[in-house]
Amino acid sequence: MNSFESFIQKELDAIKRKNRYRSLRLPSGIDLSSNDYLCLSKNPKVISALKEGLDIYGAGSGASRLIRGHRDIFERVESKFAAWVGSETSLFLSNGFAANLGLVDALSDQRTIIFTDRLNHASILDGIRISGAVKKYYNHRDINHLRELLQKSDSKSRKIIVSETVFSMDGDLAFVAELTQLKKEFDACLILDEAHALGVFGEKGAGVARMTSSANFILSDIDFRVYTGGKSLGLEGAFIACSDTYKEYLINTMRTFIFSTAPMPAIAFALQASIDLAKQMEQERIQILENANLLRNGLRELGLETLHSKSQIVPVVLYDEEKALETARLLQEKGFDIRAIRPPTVKESRLRISINANTSREDVLKVLDCLK
Ligand SMILES: Cc1ncc(COP(=O)(O)O)c(C=O)c1O
Repeated sequence: MNSFESFIQKELDAIKRKNRYRSLRLPSGIDLSSNDYLCLSKNPKVISALKEGLDIYGAGSGASRLIRGHRDIFERVESKFAAWVGSETSLFLSNGFAANLGLVDALSDQRTIIFTDRLNHASILDGIRISGAVKKYYNHRDINHLRELLQKSDSKSRKIIVSETVFSMDGDLAFVAELTQLKKEFDACLILDEAHALGVFGEKGAGVARMTSSANFILSDIDFRVYTGGKSLGLEGAFIACSDTYKEYLINTMRTFIFSTAPMPAIAFALQASIDLAKQMEQERIQILENANLLRNGLRELGLETLHSKSQIVPVVLYDEEKALETARLLQEKGFDIRAIRPPTVKESRLRISINANTSREDVLKVLDCLK
């Protein structure tokens, strides 16, 4: 072992001592941990569209989209996606991490102030970090705190507000109408990450912004909305929904778009099938949210903490890392694929249970019984 490797070994040992060691585990048992909320990754229509896409377009795209990697299917899926979520256009990328990181970086420099919800995803935080922008955390979903920070900031600096709409670990929802109000009041740019909302919330599953858009804002008040293809749509990729001007700017400046091989065209082709299916899955959306409610109510009756979850994502906060690991292990032995989530991903160790279209009422009752 060379000296650098032994340094790394010590770091690993420290992670183990803190009970934060992670290892890969294959899926097994009833899925209560994936983000495949509509179970489209196993849908025969999506799978056959993917195969057909491979036959039409071949495997890889061979270059970045600005070189030889561009295909007509990317533009078609971008238009289809934009029509679904109600934006002028959209930009298709390889994954949500690259979308958030590249977007935040492209919009910011050292003079920009970014107001970020304390629980926003790592890809957003990394985007802020590499852009060199000034980061201002506001307390989770705390609109008054955000307003205070905006009031205190230099009125001449460029401002960006960024929030998830359904938070990936707490399963609660952002106050989208209020964020939009503040954005207008302080002349800021607003970015919403709809990764966990797509397919589950909003008209035809088009996300939280589409759910509240009848309220006091119009969709074009939200400058950018980020969606992923790897969660409810059952594939991979990401879309940034925005105006034509913004898209033109991103194509010219966004480093994760410019300096990366274009996604496989077959993915874009299959995403069209996923979008068509997701739009129609109203019954599944109702069932997912009913089962999540059943689970939350049962957990509360057991005296367990579920925070402000209102979505398909239900945290069971256990605080203690070992307890979270042990509880997940016991549930896995009973046949449920439920995972423990620990620091540094979250502050309080917990189980993160996610309900999907295949989750039955009986599954929920069995999990509650085990936890009892
Ligand atoms: C809120 C949020 N945004 C973005 C991402 C990244 O998306 P992807 O998995 O497509 O890279 C995730 C995924 O884990 C997420 O939870």
